[in-house]
Amino acid sequence: MGNNKDINKNIKRNQGDDKSLEFLDLKSINNLKISDHLQDRKVLFKEPSPIEYSNFFRPGMGTENVGGFLRSLIMMLRPNRILEIGAGYSTPFLLEGLVNNKRVFDDGNLKENYFKNYSYDPKLIILDNQTLGKLIQNKGMREIIDSNYTEFIEGSFEGNGRCLFKKYGFFDFVWFDCGGPIEYENFIREYWNYCSNYILFHFTYSNGKPNLNHKIIREKINENTIIFDIVEPHKNRQGSITILKKECL
Ligand SMILES: C[S@@+](CC[C@H](N)C(=O)[O-])C[C@H]1O[C@@H](n2cnc3c(N)ncnc32)[C@H](O)[C@@H]1O
Repeated sequence: MGNNKDINKNIKRNQGDDKSLEFLDLKSINNLKISDHLQDRKVLFKEPSPIEYSNFFRPGMGTENVGGFLRSLIMMLRPNRILEIGAGYSTPFLLEGLVNNKRVFDDGNLKENYFKNYSYDPKLIILDNQTLGKLIQNKGMREIIDSNYTEFIEGSFEGNGRCLFKKYGFFDFVWFDCGGPIEYENFIREYWNYCSNYILFHFTYSNGKPNLNHKIIREKINENTIIFDIVEPHKNRQGSITILKKECL
């Protein structure tokens, strides 16, 4: 734990000078007093757990399993600039992941270098033109829009790329969930150079096979990029994610 004491000191010292570090809440693993609401459930491991954020659930959008996955990725990757195109059930999970990143568990395994000159001022930028219904009417959406960590833009993503890049810089985590081949192509053409790390596209398989959205991604991305598909075997549509990771050369 010697190193971690140094990290703690480092962070505390830096917190004095650097506003962006005020975001961080370093939790020593020995002092954890975190209640586990699941442990209180009488039916633990006997019944499926209740669906989270049920107010946001949008039947037919296919993201009931995606939400928790996105939240975990945000907590694992700690991105600074998250862009969501096509809001709904996925949105609260993205925001929750980002807010959870205030807390870092100090279990003796922290990388000292990571916290040197550490700066974390994350933002979730949400774009939706509301063509599939007014999201703002969902209970809880107001809290998301009013969060300090979000910017909600009611409008189409097309034509907004440069302006958002100027304001926020590179997007290091993108969740794209809107439209079909035309939108996928428009997004890649306009936003690709503004993305720096992970880009996740929803709905890239139909009936278990790569669909036109997937074809567009493969054809339009010619840079050195890792592409990986996750396919939900029990679904016809809206049951897959294609993850792209830009390779740093
Ligand atoms: C498939 S839904 C998103 C589902 C959402 N991610 C979820 O988990 O429930 C697509 C969303 O994209 C929005 N949309 C459609 N075309 C758009 C465009 N060109 N720009 C921005 N938003 C768009 C629709 O209003 C709709 O809310």
